[in-house]
Amino acid sequence: MAEKETLGSKALGSKALWHGRFDERPAETLMAFTQSLSFDQRLAAHDIQGSISHVRGLERANILTSQETEQIVAALQQTGDELAAKKFAFVKSDEDIHTAIERRVTELCGATGAKLHTGRSRNDQVATAFRLWTKDAITQMIEATLALVEVFYDQAIATGDAYLPGYTHLQQAQPVALAHHFAAHGWALSRDVDRLFDCLARLDVSPLGAGALAGTSLGLHAGETAEELGFAGAFQNSLDVTSDRDFVAETLFCVAMLGVHLSRVGEEFVLWSSQEFGFVTLDDQYATGSSMLPQKKNPDIAELARGKAGRFIGNLTGLLATLKGLPLAYNRDLQEDKEPLFDSVDQVLLGLRAVAGMVQTARYNTEVMATAADNPLAVATDIAELLVSEGVPFRQAHAIVGELVRQSLAEGVAFVDTVVAHEKLGPRVKELFVPGASAAQRTSSGGGAPEAVKTQLAQLDEQIVADKKRLQLIQP
Ligand code: ARG
Repeated sequence: MAEKETLGSKALGSKALWHGRFDERPAETLMAFTQSLSFDQRLAAHDIQGSISHVRGLERANILTSQETEQIVAALQQTGDELAAKKFAFVKSDEDIHTAIERRVTELCGATGAKLHTGRSRNDQVATAFRLWTKDAITQMIEATLALVEVFYDQAIATGDAYLPGYTHLQQAQPVALAHHFAAHGWALSRDVDRLFDCLARLDVSPLGAGALAGTSLGLHAGETAEELGFAGAFQNSLDVTSDRDFVAETLFCVAMLGVHLSRVGEEFVLWSSQEFGFVTLDDQYATGSSMLPQKKNPDIAELARGKAGRFIGNLTGLLATLKGLPLAYNRDLQEDKEPLFDSVDQVLLGLRAVAGMVQTARYNTEVMATAADNPLAVATDIAELLVSEGVPFRQAHAIVGELVRQSLAEGVAFVDTVVAHEKLGPRVKELFVPGASAAQRTSSGGGAPEAVKTQLAQLDEQIVADKKRLQLIQP
């Protein structure tokens, strides 16, 4: 039949997978718009894994003989090798990686290969391969996040009793131990680790056997293929599992939250490395220069850790918008699930590793930090708490000290002298002004005193050890 040309779009030379029902071949513009091969090639290994398991299921259901099974499995393995070695020849009608693999298997073993897709649809196939891929991705993200938690822990230990101003509203509030500060980022990231483990547990469901939407009549057992593929179990509802992308949205949320934590670390390093703060000097390996200004040393890792969070949030909200309002079951819209997840996973892994390097190698200028923290006004709360320990109601103590601050600023008298001159306070208060003394007062659990910080560092260490054990259990 002569090829038709419409709106400048030629029909494709080769037949599509679904050609039986169609008189004509798909238009090039259709293929250009609907293909996913350009980005879903990275599912190849997981697709092959799912396909081999499916073929073994067909053998158990007596649909394939053992000879046919071995033939198809060998062809799948060869196809996998060709893809891994980048020696695979794609053709124009390869719409996605799944059709490309099936085409090649059929080329390699003819009529037998044509049995590969029995009792299966791309709808359960894609969902299976993508869940397998995501399981691996989560494992890698847990590993990289834990490595960063460990960097913060190590820095906290290494920094000893150094202290810096603690801020609220980015105004100096109370001095805090640098170890306390590093550990705070460690705890936030360790929640990300925990969230990723949770997400993994929920996504650990095999969709294989759900068919296009409603299962199959061919006696395939989803539970068996699920076990073979290392899933915790198989789906309960085929309509649900073929169209369920909760696992993608959840993983994107985990990355977005992790990205928000990285962005907060990033923002602090941007501030700390500025001339105005001077708290940190970035290692040359983890800083960048300016193409025009010779003196510049820029914190680009920190800025991109901050900037990429926007992209992670966009990937999450974009997918949620795609999922919203989709009727059961599979709709082609769902193909839009892949690029955001690939992107978020790639970028967060790069970010985690770069930030770990930056935090690990930076020089922390603890003298500059201490000088900034020794601002006498930072002791105000400790003075109020001293009055409280002597029976003054807190609101009253707050007012007394507030008044002393105001007086000291108005009269240009050193705060310590104003305080010492107060009848209720006197010279004994001077010891609170000794550098570092203030932080040592806050002995409450999780607080800033050296003992309290030591305790929580031991807890963080325990958490890291426990998470490493959990990680070993899921690593291939
Ligand atoms: N590449 C597609 C995806 O990722 C494959 C599924 C196509 N299924 C279908 N019924 N047309 O979703």
